[in-house]
Amino acid sequence: MITVNQLHPLFFGEIVGADLTAEPTEDLRQTVQDAMDRHGVCVVRQGPITDEEHIRFARLFGPLELPPGYGTRPRGRMAPELFFAGNLDLEGNIKPLTPASQNVAKGAERFHADSSFNPLPSKWSMLRGVECPPPEIGGDTLFVDLRAGYAALPQALKDRIDGKMGIHDFWMGRKYAGLEVTDEMKANMPMPPVHHPLVRVSGDGRKAVFVGGHCVGVEGMGEEEGHALVEEIYDIITQPEFIHRHHWTVGDIVIWDNRFALHAATPLDTDQYRRDMRRATINESGDEIDSYEYRRRQKESAA
Ligand code: SIN
Repeated sequence: MITVNQLHPLFFGEIVGADLTAEPTEDLRQTVQDAMDRHGVCVVRQGPITDEEHIRFARLFGPLELPPGYGTRPRGRMAPELFFAGNLDLEGNIKPLTPASQNVAKGAERFHADSSFNPLPSKWSMLRGVECPPPEIGGDTLFVDLRAGYAALPQALKDRIDGKMGIHDFWMGRKYAGLEVTDEMKANMPMPPVHHPLVRVSGDGRKAVFVGGHCVGVEGMGEEEGHALVEEIYDIITQPEFIHRHHWTVGDIVIWDNRFALHAATPLDTDQYRRDMRRATINESGDEIDSYEYRRRQKESAA
């Protein structure tokens, strides 16, 4: 039997008793869907599974967003449909810890929604712990619920964002996080900003405030004013009482709804422990495609 528990007073479900090594049933799909609708983030407690079982499970909920360069990059040791988060190279060796690698990791240490900077209709992420350092070493992941965040905003702030669009810009977000961004980096990976509503409504009518590390401003406001507004909201919704900290156990799959929750990596300031985390990213609809190819097709059809 599958059971669902709530692990944080405001959100975060724990799904116990699923077996993802077996052919998924409609009962499993519906239980996970219901738990996600309610909690926005859930951990499926599960022993180790293969990349193929992970992908099969993810596809129950929508088409995958594929990693950039899908099909053209070297395969490495993991399925090319999955994104990697961790400290290993393509062959599976630990990458040495350097100030530069620590600096790059900082981008994911701000609360964010995956892929909010790209125009695909982003839905869920499913991150699986393949090799996890002990919790006292680092590498936990933090989560906040954006519906609880919206409810906590003062009315004056709710009024200021009502009906407004947030600007999500990958490069600008990295700059604001204190990372080096050069013209060359932008030319190699052009990612024009995209807009999403600052207030979204979930299926049960609850409102959510959609900000996070990639949200750098507000359409129709000056750069400074818009940035100050989204940062003011960010500071409110990421206060300690809203945060759930997930300590990883091998085989955990944490699913989050990128439309209604934000997440943040925590530092792993050592190269003595391995961290191998693999993520399936799921869209609401459309082809299984990577974001570069999607932008390329958009441009082509606009021409
Ligand atoms: C992510 O930001 O998508 C990964 C989070 C993590 O590695 O803990």
